[in-house]
Amino acid sequence: MESPEVTTLLDELTRLPGRDDPYPRYRRLREISPVVRAEDGALVVTRHADCVAVTRHPKLGHMPSHMMEFVRPDWDRHPALQQLFTSILAINPPDHTRLRRLVSSSFTARRVQALQPRIAQMVEELLEPMSGEVDFVQAFGFPLPVNVIGELLGIPEPDRAQFQTLVRDWTQVLEVISPEVLATADPAAATIRSYLAGLAAERRRKPGDDLISALVAAEEDGEKLTEDELLTMAALLFAAGFETTTNLLGNSVVSLLRNPDQLELLRMQPGLAASAVEELLRFDTPVQLLSRVAWDDIEIAGVPVSGGERIVAYLGAGNRDPERFTDPDRLDLARPDNAPLSFGGGIHYCLGAPLARLEAQIAIPALLARFPGLALAGEPGRRDSLAIRGYTSVPVTVG
Ligand code: HEM
Repeated sequence: MESPEVTTLLDELTRLPGRDDPYPRYRRLREISPVVRAEDGALVVTRHADCVAVTRHPKLGHMPSHMMEFVRPDWDRHPALQQLFTSILAINPPDHTRLRRLVSSSFTARRVQALQPRIAQMVEELLEPMSGEVDFVQAFGFPLPVNVIGELLGIPEPDRAQFQTLVRDWTQVLEVISPEVLATADPAAATIRSYLAGLAAERRRKPGDDLISALVAAEEDGEKLTEDELLTMAALLFAAGFETTTNLLGNSVVSLLRNPDQLELLRMQPGLAASAVEELLRFDTPVQLLSRVAWDDIEIAGVPVSGGERIVAYLGAGNRDPERFTDPDRLDLARPDNAPLSFGGGIHYCLGAPLARLEAQIAIPALLARFPGLALAGEPGRRDSLAIRGYTSVPVTVG
């Protein structure tokens, strides 16, 4: 399970240029063994079935906060860690259940479907001024999701753009927690929090029909959530609501432009949009991995795991598992039985999955329909992170 080759492969995934194309490395890891041990002791799984098992296992969850003290005694003095580790993404029931319930009704498939006309309008407004050579990320990939989630939360339009950098800086801690990363991530997380505190105070005085006003009402109702929980929830929803979807749009456009037969297929058959988005999510997923801690001694993929050990599920690898997907390295927009791992699973299954899917299903066919001459105008710039995979820039010509 441990070998110098495993160590080298995992190490290459931690930095460019290795992480630019992780897929051949995942494949090699899976060939060596479906479960390998990283140098920091974490178990790494790369098969589809094992990734599913990790997300659903009743004895795998997140480190309870009283145990965090032992692992990282200063965690709650770092705004970047505090804001992440106390969010629903990283906590356990019963708090997870209570907090998730407060927001889940806003993101059901039915509620999200009602946003269809508004999203379609936003897509048209963004495509309209595009001409000549543009950076797809700046012109479309970022503004669409930030405006959709910004409108849902009630973040005033002129304030939204600053969060692109702030959220990117904050979420670096998903990758590595080092003093250098914290030096940038902490002030970013603190800025996001104080902005949201100001907004929540405003909504307390003058409520609107947005999600922050709804959270403020729940807080005032007592017992449902504290002000701290409110701000953490708003920060997570806002960040998760655009960062990953921006990357889905950027990754998808690059995947399509590099597979012109598939691009033409979707242009000719826009009815394939739903299946196409699932395949694009599988082919180059914006969230490549998630991690859990064993609460007890268990077994994963036949390997014993002791209580307290960390397990990392490489969703990006499971999405290319030949045991689950035929010819997994081929982009096949009409692939039948396509169920990507990209939104995780179990109780932490992505809350925003219906929203992300809808945005992409509207945006990608509209982009292809409007610009028949769409082409890459240069090498896309890769964001230097693996957990969150995306591009910082995608130069295209739209004709
Ligand atoms: C393509 C876009 C997206 C991808 C690939 C994605 C992926 C994921 C994944 C893999 C998880 C599970 C993490 C884990 O179990 O450790 C997750 C959780 C979550 N996502 Fe998304 N997400 C996307 C878009 C969104 C959007 C638009 C929202 C907006 C609300 C959102 C909100 C959340 C929240 C709140 C959680 C935590 C849920 C919980 O722990 O109960 N995501 N997402």
